[in-house]
Amino acid sequence: MKYVEFGSTGEKVSEMCLGTMMFGQRCDEAEADRILGAAIERGVNSIDTAPMYGDGHTEEILGRIIKGKRDQLFIGTKVHKGIDSQSILESIDESLARMRTDYVDLYMIHWPIEGMRPREIMEALNGVVTQGKARYVGCCNYPAWLFAHSNAIAERNGWPPLVCNQVAYNVIERGIEIELLPQAVAEEVAITAYRPLASGVLAGKYEAGRHPPTDSRAPADTRILTWLAQHGDSMERFNQYAAERGVHPAQLAVTWVRHSPGITSPIVGASSLSQLETSVGAFEFDLSDVEYDTITHMFETEVKEEGLQRFPDKIFNFPRLRRNLNLTSSE
Ligand SMILES: NC(=O)c1ccc[n+]([C@@H]2O[C@H](COP(=O)([O-])OP(=O)(O)OC[C@H]3O[C@@H](n4cnc5c(N)ncnc54)[C@H](OP(=O)(O)O)[C@@H]3O)[C@@H](O)[C@H]2O)c1
Repeated sequence: MKYVEFGSTGEKVSEMCLGTMMFGQRCDEAEADRILGAAIERGVNSIDTAPMYGDGHTEEILGRIIKGKRDQLFIGTKVHKGIDSQSILESIDESLARMRTDYVDLYMIHWPIEGMRPREIMEALNGVVTQGKARYVGCCNYPAWLFAHSNAIAERNGWPPLVCNQVAYNVIERGIEIELLPQAVAEEVAITAYRPLASGVLAGKYEAGRHPPTDSRAPADTRILTWLAQHGDSMERFNQYAAERGVHPAQLAVTWVRHSPGITSPIVGASSLSQLETSVGAFEFDLSDVEYDTITHMFETEVKEEGLQRFPDKIFNFPRLRRNLNLTSSE
């Protein structure tokens, strides 16, 4: 397992972050314990959780199974309830109690919501850090302007900045390539990518035009059915390509996410030990640029912005500029 810089923090974390959303939902505590143990054995030290997973049950499980291992882990959790100052200050205490720890390494806002107040939020996050309950703060699902706006407020007030943006990224969902990934490269923002397998669609378990297996997340997640309808043929080609390369589709999908220099860590979720053991193999090989392009073109999911197709060869092609990781030089 490779260790990578966690944004601008100076911390090194394992390239793989273990997602715990299925702990207590699609796997029981004993299996969660085995998954965590196997991940640690493979060098994983970064763990993602949230109070809303299993309505607190996932954090409780984590609290029991990290016993004796807490100090070797980099644990991130999120704010429950609203995102006003009171919720931010209360939610951390509840998470710490459930996880039986005095601090988390990373405390994140889970979702932006309409009417949110960035100044109040950054001040409350500062309070959590000052009290020693979180070492760093971050967010999930923020657009680039809100991330920059929040950090400008933090800087003006001497408060800790957001160091991480946790966002969905996989070969089907590619919106973060516009703005967020270039921002991450320029500002050393840690980007942790959730849903690297598109909730399992890229894990080789589904067949286009067939009913999904009942023992999967599909019956409870309409997004999976939508993606299967929209991208079923691409998915079949992708599965075939993985078979030709002698790797599991789940490994190929996670490695595709790892390929971007803007990504810090894919967050790998597993419902069983055997899934974890398969997915962790994604960190043992890299894609060539040709392989990366081949997979990308199978899906044709590039987010199209206005102007992109009308003037594809113009120098001042603003959509192209907006997603260009080399637009500015540090020299
Ligand atoms: N911040 C946010 O808003 C947010 C949102 C969502 C998730 N997250 C975080 O990101 C993590 C990952 O999200 P995700 O679970 O949606 O990611 P994902 O990797 O896209 O999907 C994981 C699912 O894929 C299937 N799978 C995984 N490995 C497999 C394998 N080797 N073979 C066959 N199937 C396999 C399993 O589905 P089955 O259970 O159907 O077998 C598993 O539950 C979560 O645990 C959570 O920590 C954060």
